[in-house]
Amino acid sequence: MPTIHIEADPASLAQAFAAWVSEQIPAEGPYHIALSGGSTPKLLFAHWAAEYQDRLPWNRIHFWWGDERCVPPNDADSNYRMTKELLLDHVSIPVKNIHRVEGEIAPDQAAVNFAADMKQSMPIENGLPKFDLIILGMGADGHTASIFPHEMELLEESNWTAVATHPESGQKRVTLTGSVLNAAGKIAFLVAGASKLEKVTA
Ligand code: 6PG
Repeated sequence: MPTIHIEADPASLAQAFAAWVSEQIPAEGPYHIALSGGSTPKLLFAHWAAEYQDRLPWNRIHFWWGDERCVPPNDADSNYRMTKELLLDHVSIPVKNIHRVEGEIAPDQAAVNFAADMKQSMPIENGLPKFDLIILGMGADGHTASIFPHEMELLEESNWTAVATHPESGQKRVTLTGSVLNAAGKIAFLVAGASKLEKVTA
């Protein structure tokens, strides 16, 4: 049964979420987290950078992405770039623990490569990569990762990754599919804004 935790404002949400994540990470071993993109996680990343430089085992944390826009890593639209600027450049996470999607190459190949990286770098359980924690956002239309209402078949897709298309911009994105999302040890939706209340409570 999902637990809904409500905070008064985005800053308090980021702080509470960061404290919760700290409690999830065991005393040893690698910890694989898939990050969400967009704007909501920005406060979390800035809070981690400011307050958690010495309070998380960065050498054991592996960062992945639930989805990435098919743009170069230095593009203003890149989730990787946003995360690098707000977080990765400010904490001592080893470069080898950062598993970005190659947004600069052909989307189909980027999706294949991302899945290959998971196969090589993560525990596999029941034929699926086992993320310890997947952080997801939610759009006003209810989409998560880059699984949009017009491509709901991606929720059932057996491949671990897929190329999705943004319904308005047509932008191509690489996304984790529903089979991988649902195989995670923990899933946390980090959502802010009144525009999403109806979808969150649906
Ligand atoms: C992305 C995200 C996407 C995002 C939602 C919410 O790449 O945009 O992964 O799923 O989480 O669209 O975005 P906001 O946080 O900007 O509202």
